[in-house]
Amino acid sequence: MAWNPSQYLKFAEARLRPAADLLARVTLTAPRTIYDLGCGTGNVTRMLKARWPEAAVTGVDSSAEMLAQAAQDSGDISWQRLNLADWEPEQPADLIFSNAALHWLPNHAQLFPTLMARLAAGGMLAVQMPRNFSSPSHTLIEETVRQGPWRTKLEHLLRPPPVGTPQQYYALLDGQADKTEIWETEYLEVLAGADPVKEWIKGTWLKQFLDQLEPCERSAFEADYAQRAAQAYPPLPNGKTLFPFKRLFMIAQKALR
Ligand SMILES: C[S@@+](CC[C@H](N)C(=O)[O-])C[C@H]1O[C@@H](n2cnc3c(N)ncnc32)[C@H](O)[C@@H]1O
Repeated sequence: MAWNPSQYLKFAEARLRPAADLLARVTLTAPRTIYDLGCGTGNVTRMLKARWPEAAVTGVDSSAEMLAQAAQDSGDISWQRLNLADWEPEQPADLIFSNAALHWLPNHAQLFPTLMARLAAGGMLAVQMPRNFSSPSHTLIEETVRQGPWRTKLEHLLRPPPVGTPQQYYALLDGQADKTEIWETEYLEVLAGADPVKEWIKGTWLKQFLDQLEPCERSAFEADYAQRAAQAYPPLPNGKTLFPFKRLFMIAQKALR
């Protein structure tokens, strides 16, 4: 999918908060090699570099658009354009960090043990993924797809929730970890403006559906989804819209030997 950095960054502050919450729980003192997987526009990568300025920090992403934005304010950071399914560090990493990206990859049963295997002894894997695929913001995408004239064009994009339960990730990480911390947080996002939930989702999950449609059909699909989202998340009398958003966090420290 082609990403649109400006649409994604409309909610930059809210999207960064989970990354900061995850980073706060990473207890490594002086990691030497750090990878930010699915680094996007590099906002989180820059936070990693700011915390550990001596470390070699690399942001990895497959999107040319997102990496072009990242490179505009590069600092002393390396950027790699690569599909994460093919990513392998030159040497075992001290920290593999990933915020809001790994839910785009399939087969977590294989992916997570592989990421653990790519850590140095004592290194950490720190991951945050949304776990809101059963909330109206996402189930209404399926409803819009199935109930409109675009059904045959879009139905093949519908798939089961890509993120498992905390217990499933514990089982995937525990075999190689000395210490595992897994938790969930539901943020209550307070959004402003017209159709804010549609605008939020349009920066991420909704985009893959919109991209398949011609401009006229795309506007109709967007309006249909916006109407459903506005009913599920009605604006308050003060004009704000409350958008509960559940996210899954995990940190696993690789055993020393
Ligand atoms: C929601 S953005 C998150 C960006 C950044 N981590 C942040 O927190 O702001 C997800 C990013 O994952 C990247 N991504 C998704 N699937 C990928 C894949 N298979 N390989 C590499 N990058 C991928 C996208 O290109 C996008 O930049």
